Amino acid sequence: MLKKRGADAPFSSSENFSEKEVVSFGEKEYKVQIGIDLASSEKVFLRFPIPRIGFICGKRGMGKSFTLSVIADQLSSFSDVLVIDTMGVMKVYAHGDVIKAPHDLKLPLSLVGESLLFAFDLSQNSPQGILLARAINEFKGSFYTLDDIIDRVELDAHSSDTTKRALINRLLSAKDWGIFSDYPSEIDFLFEGYKVLDLSLLRYELRQLVTWTLCDVLLAERMREKKDRNIYLVVDEAQDYAPARSTEKNSLVRLAKEGRLPGIGVILASQQPSAISDGVLSQADFLISHRLTLVEDIRSLKALTPTFMKGDMGVYMRKISNPGEGIFIDDIEEDFRLISVRRWNDEK
Ligand SMILES: Nc1ncnc2c1ncn2[C@@H]1O[C@H](COP(=O)(O)OP(=O)(O)OP(=O)(O)O)[C@@H](O)[C@H]1O
Ligand SMILES: [Mg+2]
Repeated sequence: MLKKRGADAPFSSSENFSEKEVVSFGEKEYKVQIGIDLASSEKVFLRFPIPRIGFICGKRGMGKSFTLSVIADQLSSFSDVLVIDTMGVMKVYAHGDVIKAPHDLKLPLSLVGESLLFAFDLSQNSPQGILLARAINEFKGSFYTLDDIIDRVELDAHSSDTTKRALINRLLSAKDWGIFSDYPSEIDFLFEGYKVLDLSLLRYELRQLVTWTLCDVLLAERMREKKDRNIYLVVDEAQDYAPARSTEKNSLVRLAKEGRLPGIGVILASQQPSAISDGVLSQADFLISHRLTLVEDIRSLKALTPTFMKGDMGVYMRKISNPGEGIFIDDIEEDFRLISVRRWNDEK
């Protein structure tokens, strides 16, 4: 993980992994050409011998989504890749199969569980929250629909009619979201091959609900059964899913912390490093920062400066100006450069 300047322990991204534990690819070396060195024009590569956590930042329009797509496209040749496309932009850059929510994706409520309270903005201690949690708990382990929950709520003997009516209204409105499945359905297809999940038609809370549910399902599945192919979750606009001040319970933070061992890497992009959870940033083992100008963002980035990097982040930041140009830090290789991000076949 990227360490603060002055931290005494020498960096090792694989410090938590013994060779046997890491999902191994044998002799073959998997790498991504990220672009060219601005000073020497030589090609710059990112190697993926183990699942990695990466962070891309930069102010509006400086190339974060494009950079994510350069990485995702190449990763897809040797890993499964799922891109979370919040704004419907990544599907333009990245060459995976586009899945459009809610049309092409329905979540079984059993996978969502008590996170439904979050989507309704209900506290666990409110009368409606208690009633909903009770209903959901009774169905635990089986498939159920919103109608099943509505029927169960109507029959509840411990809640007032007002509470029941209010909750049923919420459940009825959730039917219009179109995101929950009416019959047992699989979502595993998202974790195979190269998929770009377009969430742009969903409102904010539902994007979070879907993304966090996918994080939980993916982690649980890979914990249960290791696969011989790693998977990368690529998340644009990551501040929406792992915002600053997220708790350890945040599903994306958990995935970044616990996913490497069962073969899950995470690559995030955000305009503002200061808006992202420290819990995720501290896991990053590579960083690409396109141009940033806000003092608080440069300060957040400085906090991630690794011990091997010489010079001041703010000074390097002033040397990059065009979209695609950025500061590149690879903690595994202990590599630091200024780069211009390019597609593999973008030869001048
Ligand atoms: N490496 C690059 N080389 C050339 N052009 C680039 C590069 N990266 C981005 N661009 C161009 O810059 C523009 C903005 O790129 P992009 O959408 O990736 O920015 P962004 O940082 O994700 O912006 P936003 O903050 O709005 O999400 C696009 O027109 C894109 O084609
Ligand atoms: Mg973008």
